[in-house]
Amino acid sequence: MNRPAQLLILVGTMTQTAQHVAQAIEMGCADLISPIEVRLMDELDVRIFDGDALYLLCTSTTGSGDVPDNARALYESLGNEPRYLGHVRYGVIALGDSCYPQTFCNGGLRFDERLADLGAIRIGDLLQHDASDGSEAELAGVVWCREWLAQALHTSKGAKA
Ligand SMILES: Cc1cc2nc3c(=O)[nH]c(=O)nc-3n(C[C@H](O)[C@H](O)[C@H](O)COP(=O)(O)O)c2cc1C
Repeated sequence: MNRPAQLLILVGTMTQTAQHVAQAIEMGCADLISPIEVRLMDELDVRIFDGDALYLLCTSTTGSGDVPDNARALYESLGNEPRYLGHVRYGVIALGDSCYPQTFCNGGLRFDERLADLGAIRIGDLLQHDASDGSEAELAGVVWCREWLAQALHTSKGAKA
C-alpha cells in the first residue's frame, strides 16, 4: 500500500461526543499525518471509500446497539451497494456505555463487521470507549490514535522510518 494521502475521520454521533473525539484527534495528531479531515457521516455512502485515504470510523452507539441516525445511510449503503474494498485500510473508535452490556459499542462493531465483509483491512484493534469508566473520550481517542497512526503509517509502503 502506498503511504495514504490523508486521514479521513468519518463521524457517527447522536450528541456530538464522537465529533469532539474526532476534532481532538485532528489537533492532537497533526504532527503525524497531514491533512486530517473530519466528516460527519450524514449523506455519505459507500463511494466515500473510493479514495486513497486512511480511514478512521469514529462512531457512538444508540438505541439497542444501533448505529447513530446520521450514520444509518452509510451503514446501509455498505450492505445494499456492496463493492470490493480491498484497497481500504481503516481503524475504528467505538463509543459506548457498559451500562448496555449486551450491546456495548455495537455501533462501531457493526461498521467493523461490514467493512471486513467487503474486504477492507482493519489496522490494529478497535478502541472501545466506555462512557461509564470515568475517562475522557477525547483524551483516550488521541492517545489511541497516535499509537494506531504509528502502526498504520509503518505498514504503508514509503513510510518514513
Ligand atoms: C438512548 C441511548 C442509547 C444508547 N445505547 C447504547 C448501546 O446500545 N450500547 C452502548 O454501548 N452504548 C449506548 N449508548 C451510549 C452512547 O453510545 C455513549 O454515551 C456515547 O459516548 C455517546 O456518543 P455521541 O454523543 O457521539 O452519540 C446509548 C446512549 C443513549 C443516550
